[in-house]
Amino acid sequence: MSTVSEAVEALRRGGLVLMPTETVYGLAADAANPAAIAAVFEAKGRPRFNPLIAHVTGLEAAERFAAFDPRARQLAEAFWPGPLTLVLPVTDGAAVCDLARAGLDTVAVRAPAHPMAHALLEAFDGPVCAPSANRSGRPSPTTLKDALDETGPAAAAFLDGGPCRVGLESTVLAALDGPVRLLRPGGLARGAIEAVVGPLAEADDDARRSPGRLVRHYAPEAKVRLNAAFAEPGEAFLRFGDGVDDPLSLSPSGDVRQAAQRLFAALRAADRLHPTAIAVAPVPETGLGEAVNDRLRRAAGFVG
Ligand code: TXA
Ligand code: MG
Repeated sequence: MSTVSEAVEALRRGGLVLMPTETVYGLAADAANPAAIAAVFEAKGRPRFNPLIAHVTGLEAAERFAAFDPRARQLAEAFWPGPLTLVLPVTDGAAVCDLARAGLDTVAVRAPAHPMAHALLEAFDGPVCAPSANRSGRPSPTTLKDALDETGPAAAAFLDGGPCRVGLESTVLAALDGPVRLLRPGGLARGAIEAVVGPLAEADDDARRSPGRLVRHYAPEAKVRLNAAFAEPGEAFLRFGDGVDDPLSLSPSGDVRQAAQRLFAALRAADRLHPTAIAVAPVPETGLGEAVNDRLRRAAGFVG
């Protein structure tokens, strides 16, 4: 385990850092250093066309390289620090390098709420790009141990911030021309956002604008069967709301927030049983259930 100052030193040298956030663990690098960013893509096996999120301490730091219109400002003021990412026009293409943005003229930015991430960003004093620390296509890590299993060998430093409180990735919104669009449902529920900026437009299924919505993603080794009433012989069963608490329960009490928090760890626990498939009980679409179901559909390979 490393200290925050060791992690800052690693970032300054162009090294990668496993960074806890309230959503999932990230694989962090200096946003302005193309060689460090290239190492992130390589460690993840991530396609170069899929841009990264720049992490900052808050609105003031983000305004050094991104343009906030009044709606974007309102969203940042309402929800930062927290599990919300804003895609905005970039105003300083060196602060978050071309490779990190996959050559786009926009930049994704968020201020994480985890105190250790905040301490790292404050001491580093510049934007840090951090995709989820999984290898591309796999479930995101929600503990340091899971992060080490995924991309640990590539990291020069790693911070233990405990299990992630939210458990799935930030909600990604585009605040560009036209209405605010939902690019990725995530740890901040739609209802909270719409209470501030009104109804969200859907991402036009333009893969270039929301590259993370491509391909089978968040996927365990075993294939995933959704909306299962029970498990077939040989299947692992991720349950919801049946009152029994164990690592395969998404939430014993039927709470969607808890299901979000446990989802990726439960998929990993199910994989360790080497089942013929992972059957998953239905989870309601309410609140964070929208993001839970989005990840489950992608894990099952249903969304192209
Ligand atoms: O909670 C999170 O957001 C975590 C933690 C570590 O902060 N990070 C994360 O990063 O989930 P990643 O790289 O796994 O997901 C970033 C998402 C991808 O879907 C990517 O396509 C999208 O953000 N994205 C990044 N820049 C974009 C841009 N300029 N336009 C559209 N989408 C963008
Ligand atoms: Mg990811």
